[in-house]
Amino acid sequence: KKISIIGVPMDLGQTRRGVDMGPSAMRYAGVVERLEALNFEVDDRGDVEIGRPNKLDVKNDKNLKDLNEVVKANEILADAVSNAVEKGNFPLVLGGDHSIAIGTLAGVANKYENLGVIWFDAHGDLNTGDTSPSGNIHGMPLAVSLGIGDTSLTKIGGYAPKIKPENIVIIGARSLDDGEKELIKEKGIKVFTMHEIDRLGMTNVMEEAISHVSQKTDGIHLSLDLDALDPIDAPGVGTPVIGGTTYRETHLAMEILAERDLITSAEFVEVNPILDNKNSTAEAAVGLIGSLFGEKLL
Ligand code: ARG
Ligand code: MN
Ligand code: MN
Ligand code: MN
Repeated sequence: KKISIIGVPMDLGQTRRGVDMGPSAMRYAGVVERLEALNFEVDDRGDVEIGRPNKLDVKNDKNLKDLNEVVKANEILADAVSNAVEKGNFPLVLGGDHSIAIGTLAGVANKYENLGVIWFDAHGDLNTGDTSPSGNIHGMPLAVSLGIGDTSLTKIGGYAPKIKPENIVIIGARSLDDGEKELIKEKGIKVFTMHEIDRLGMTNVMEEAISHVSQKTDGIHLSLDLDALDPIDAPGVGTPVIGGTTYRETHLAMEILAERDLITSAEFVEVNPILDNKNSTAEAAVGLIGSLFGEKLL
C-alpha cells in the first residue's frame, strides 16, 4: 500500500506561533525513512500553502480567528486528501494545528458512507464560535465535521456533515468546555476520558473504542492531537494539559490499531517545535506513526 504524506503548516487555528513548523519537524525526525523501512512506498506531496493574514486577526464578530485563511487552506487540503484517496493511497496528514482536521475529514469522508473517527485529544474540539472561550478554530474541527458551526467551515469540500456522532470516539479527554459537554450529551458521543483510561487500562479502552467505531462504518480515520499525551512525554504542544496518556500507553494504542488493520487515513497534529524540548514531540509522533503502520521490535 502506498502512503501519501501531506504537510499542513497551519498555525492560524490558534495563537501560539511555531506549530506551522510541525510538518518539517516530523520530516526531520525521519517519518519518510521510518515508513520506507516498513516497506511502504511513500509519496511525500509536500506542504499545502497557507495564506498569511495582513495582521493577526483579533476576534471577529463571529468569534472565529483568521477564518478566511483557515477556510482557504482547508479547501486546498480537502482536495489533496481526496486525490490521495482517489488513487487508492493512504493519506497521512502532518500538522499544523488541529483546525486542519476540517479539511482532512472533508477530503476523506466523501469516499465513505459511514466514516468512523478515533480522536485522541486532551480536548473535545467540539466548540463553535458561540461556545468557544478562545475563538481559536483548532478547538472546533470535530463540531464542524458534524455539520455544527459557521457554514463557511461546515460547507468545506462542498457537503455537510462529514461524519455522524455515533461513529466517533474521543480518547484521552481531560479538558472540556461547558458547551462541549452539552454537545457530547445531546449527540451521545462516546468519550473515554483519562478516568476510563486509568480505570480500564488502554487495552480495554481500545477494544471498546474499536468495537464502538467499527459497528457500521466503512473506513476509520485516526486524528491524533499530540496534546493527548502527557506534557512530560510531549512538551511541544500549544495547549498542554497535565495528566495525559503516557508514551507507552499511546504506543500500545497504536500497536492495537495496527493489529486490527482498520485505519484508512490518519493525521498527527499540534507538534510545535518552538515549545518543544529538542524535537522530542516530533520524535514521539514519528514513533507513534511507526507503531500505527506495524513497526515491532521483534
Ligand atoms: N477548548 C479550548 C478552546 O476551544 C482548547 C482547544 C484546544 N484544541 C486543540 N486542538 N489543541 O480554545
Ligand atoms: Mn460520507
Ligand atoms: Mn488538544
Ligand atoms: Mn485537538
